[in-house]
Amino acid sequence: MSFVNYEQKDFVGVITIDREKALNALNPEVLADLEAVVDAIDADKTRCVVITGAGQKAFVAGADIGAMSTMTPDEGRAFSAKGNAVFRKIEKLPMPVIAAVNGFALGGGCELSLSCDIRIAADNAVFGQPEAGLGITPGFGGTQRLARTIGVGKAKEMIYAARNIKAEEALRVGLVNAVYPAEQMLEEAMKLAERIAGNAPIAVRQCKKAINMGLQMDIDSAVAFEPELFAACCGTADQKNAMTAFCEKRKHEPFIN
Ligand code: HXC
Repeated sequence: MSFVNYEQKDFVGVITIDREKALNALNPEVLADLEAVVDAIDADKTRCVVITGAGQKAFVAGADIGAMSTMTPDEGRAFSAKGNAVFRKIEKLPMPVIAAVNGFALGGGCELSLSCDIRIAADNAVFGQPEAGLGITPGFGGTQRLARTIGVGKAKEMIYAARNIKAEEALRVGLVNAVYPAEQMLEEAMKLAERIAGNAPIAVRQCKKAINMGLQMDIDSAVAFEPELFAACCGTADQKNAMTAFCEKRKHEPFIN
């Protein structure tokens, strides 16, 4: 039995963390299942991925506190490194990934959402890094990605104070892109995924690469990198077809070539 389900809906892959009785908390088995699912994504037919949690209450309520409660420093280091490696794989998937946050996204759950490109939240979503209240630091990338996403001051406040924020505040501080009524949220996240999947897949992937890699460079290197990705797009049949179709006032169906 796997704690993580995968469903392919046309060009969109949907990953569901499914350990509902523990609010989808991430123990080593769940992390291993998530990694296996991520590794198995077929990049040829998947143009966007949506990650959500099973049930109505939680996206992921964190790393498993019971499992962490007895960890030695070596075990803690290995657990943190494993989660970071899996989340980095998600971040480095070539296609965009959307977190569809259907409730609590705490600790490792907030960190999982931060490893995605875009966060869409249900109106009952709650985000936070409660680790400082549990005697630990965030350990699946939260100290790094939260500051990069919402700014240093707000991230420090959330992490030091271990203060959870509701969906509306998450929207205000730029942690989420949009908030929808809970019963509509997944559908809206899917609509966005389908819209992304309807664009030129190679171009979208190059955009992801340009933004993510460019953010790690100084601005001179980053603007020198962008023309390389633009140039790679100019070598695709998809680009030739799309632009010729525009000029000839025809419709174009994007494809990978
Ligand atoms: C293990 C968890 C869990 C977690 C919930 N559960 N969160 N089990 N680890 N992170 C379990 C509960 O023990 C309970 O199991 C069941 O899920 C339902 O949860 P309740 O607490 O009964 O629900 P509720 O009263 O509605 O409260 C919901 C909640 C609360 C506010 C989300 O569960 C909560 O505070 N959870 C912990 C959140 C947290 O601190 N996360 C960060 C962890 S640290 P039973 O068997 O009793 O029904 C972290 C570090 C990441 O994530 C980095 C690691 C390297």
